[in-house]
Amino acid sequence: MAADKKFTLADVQETSNPNKPLLVIDNVVYDVTTFMNEHPGGEEVLQEQQGKDATEAFEDVGHSGDAREMMQKYKIGELADSDRQIPFNARKEKPKFEVSETDTSSSWTAWIIPAALAIAATVIYKFLFAK
Ligand code: HEM
Repeated sequence: MAADKKFTLADVQETSNPNKPLLVIDNVVYDVTTFMNEHPGGEEVLQEQQGKDATEAFEDVGHSGDAREMMQKYKIGELADSDRQIPFNARKEKPKFEVSETDTSSSWTAWIIPAALAIAATVIYKFLFAK
């Protein structure tokens, strides 16, 4: 089968079954039918993930480079643009940016309050000692 075929997540769910398990890892669709009984992690975990996006389950295990090379053989296509997810490696970076954005957006309120107090104090001082 052509390895550049496009699948939606719904296509994967519908096509996959226990005898022909398909799974999605990082936007790539794999047919693991012939790999099932060779998988060092066992058949069961692959059956559990069949028809699904197994990216997180796959990455949680911390699969080796060998495993990543091995899986190329089972690629049958990719997810259609509408169903693509952020690549797993890019997902973890996110929170760091959120924290620094919060820091900068609140910084202007740190000087606007003392500035307003200083102006108010000047006005009151002038008003009291004007005469
Ligand atoms: C085509 C996809 C996959 C391939 C080629 C693959 C390949 C491998 C290989 C080669 C290993 C031996 C350890 C290593 O080299 O990292 C392994 C272990 C394992 N795999 Fe997979 N795997 C695939 C998908 C999955 C998925 C979707 C899961 C879901 C949870 C999974 C769970 C595990 C587990 C639990 C182990 C055992 C880890 C251990 O004993 O420390 N694998 N896999």
